[in-house]
Amino acid sequence: MITFLARVVLLVQPLILLSWLTSPAFAYTALSDHFLKLVPSGGDDFDIDNGKLLAPILIPRVPGTPGQAAAQEHFVNFFREELPSWSIEWFNSTGKTPVTGNREIPFQNLLFKREPPWVEEGQSNLLTLVAHYDSKISPEGFIGATDSAVPCAILMHVARSIDRFVTQMHDEMNALGEGGTVPMDMGVQILLLDGEEAFKDWTETDSLYGARALAERWETSYHPANSFYKNPLDQISMFVLLDLLGAPNPSVRSPFLPTHWAYRAMANIEQRMRQLNLLESTPDGPFLPDAEKVISRFGRGMVEDDHIPFMRRGVPILHVIATPFPTVWHTMDDDGAHLDMPTVRDWARIVTAFALEWLDMMEVEPKDEVPASR
Ligand SMILES: *[C@@H]1O[C@H](CO)[C@@H](O)[C@H](O)[C@H]1NC(C)=O
Ligand SMILES: [Zn+2]
Repeated sequence: MITFLARVVLLVQPLILLSWLTSPAFAYTALSDHFLKLVPSGGDDFDIDNGKLLAPILIPRVPGTPGQAAAQEHFVNFFREELPSWSIEWFNSTGKTPVTGNREIPFQNLLFKREPPWVEEGQSNLLTLVAHYDSKISPEGFIGATDSAVPCAILMHVARSIDRFVTQMHDEMNALGEGGTVPMDMGVQILLLDGEEAFKDWTETDSLYGARALAERWETSYHPANSFYKNPLDQISMFVLLDLLGAPNPSVRSPFLPTHWAYRAMANIEQRMRQLNLLESTPDGPFLPDAEKVISRFGRGMVEDDHIPFMRRGVPILHVIATPFPTVWHTMDDDGAHLDMPTVRDWARIVTAFALEWLDMMEVEPKDEVPASR
């Protein structure tokens, strides 16, 4: 009898432990209506001519050209000047492409990260927000406003908007002696990836240059023995990839059943913000229409994008990409003038709120703050 009981306990305990540790939604509390009202839109910073975030990257950003360097400088300066608590890391690689012969083209990912100050290597789980910053080599002069200048600018806005709450959270956890219990050791990183676009035709080797190099490296970059997460891929709590955003009437589908719960969280934020009259756009339908998608309708179809090398290695993915693609996709019309600014600012609000909610920021809700009128 005793051995039997002991066995049951042994069997049951790991299960409980496992569900505790793998629960992706540790202490997941929805933002209050009040907090949602405080979420900023970015306003004029998304202006296409003078806006601080977006205007400087509405230029061709082809790898190996001065536009690539200008975009990099914009991102690095922004984090250095406005968000000094974030670490800045480069991940550089080179590669040949089908149209550039023997020349090695530089593909240079930029990684911006903010972790709790007490964590050791391999200890924090990281909400990972991703967009590509390169632009397509043809047609000549192609800008790629939705593809993906706007997503990059949105991620800068998110970083800036969540920063003070992250600081407060870390300070309060420190004061209370919390932290060090892995599910609470949450951080956030922003990956601005290079070389997403094909130079000629989209193939396995002519596309996703930056993402492939990074995922491959991370897979074998082991943290010290006994680290909670074995490598940087393992630390990604969710890989949220934004792409092709900024055109009117976007429809972002939910292709992945394992992360559908996270999609629903974002869809729920959109719906609540719309009900609270916090969004400006007036689309034909919701941006995220699949909240009620039933299990039997999930298949294997997906859009190939920077998540692929990560997904193949087991990383959970939330792919925020408009399908059908914007009508301007891969044409000269994918420029600032064809953006729908209310849609851009609404995405900025939705993604910011999603990040705040993911990082459990109701813990530091600024109760006394009064929402600015829009
Ligand atoms: C990566 O490339 C950038 C841009 O050329 C350069 O500034 C940076 O120092 C490089 N970083 C590393 C680690 O090689
Ligand atoms: Zn593209």
